[in-house]
Amino acid sequence: MPPTRTAKQRRYLVCPPEHFDVRYAINPWMTSLEPVDVPLAHKQWDALVSLYRELGHTVETVEPVADLPDMVFAANSALVLDGRAFGAQFHAPQRQPEAGHYRTWFEDAGFETLVPSHTCEGEGDFTPVGGFILAGTGFRTLPAAHHEAQEFFGTPTVSLHLVDPHFYHLDTALFALDDSNIAYYPGAFSNGSQTVLKKLFPDAVISTREDALAFGLNSISDGRHVVMAQDATGLMESVAAHGYEPIPVDLSEFRKAGGGAKCCTQELRG
Ligand code: ARG
Repeated sequence: MPPTRTAKQRRYLVCPPEHFDVRYAINPWMTSLEPVDVPLAHKQWDALVSLYRELGHTVETVEPVADLPDMVFAANSALVLDGRAFGAQFHAPQRQPEAGHYRTWFEDAGFETLVPSHTCEGEGDFTPVGGFILAGTGFRTLPAAHHEAQEFFGTPTVSLHLVDPHFYHLDTALFALDDSNIAYYPGAFSNGSQTVLKKLFPDAVISTREDALAFGLNSISDGRHVVMAQDATGLMESVAAHGYEPIPVDLSEFRKAGGGAKCCTQELRG
């Protein structure tokens, strides 16, 4: 019998999809010729936020800004630990103005905020778990930002190399199930990084490529409930077998931009 898992109440920051669209291509998902169904995107996002509230979490919102169609992906705005925000410096010119809008929100909300000196995309590439900050590089965030985050938080940062452009952010290939364990897709990482993950997390839940491509690893867990892309059926079974409670969500419209539940959600850790 797997252990009983305990939920911890969370505080999330999200950005309403008022201006969400796919207007440029900065990852392989964005080249699909299928246009975004805007009303459907709004419905899917509303359902996600309602679900967080039903689960007892606090949800705060940042004002969306016109002509920033990816601003809905709040996870990229920072990594927040102990009430301190390590901000973003976006890789793509199209997204660079988002950083300042988010910074203003963090400062107004009373977070000590650092403006990083190197390219980094917040929780897109940073996952705190097991006493470490797991940090992705290869497509967006630079290793120099991993060092800067380590200095800022005083938490050891483990650099992991992403090698498959479909998994261009760490949070498309790995997520924290709770404070000590993760789920991930090994094929998204270099051989050395796979070995590191195996050593640090011998009991991790391993995802297939198919479930990873269904955005199953772009999930949000509160330690018990795992909000997960509905098509990642195999991964849902695996996390359930480990004692967690998967809750399927449909975010098909955001997948057209290369995003899922986690991308839409910034965790504010106090
Ligand atoms: N279109 C966005 C980009 O390529 C998607 C960001 C997804 N966010 C994430 N945390 N993985 O930057």
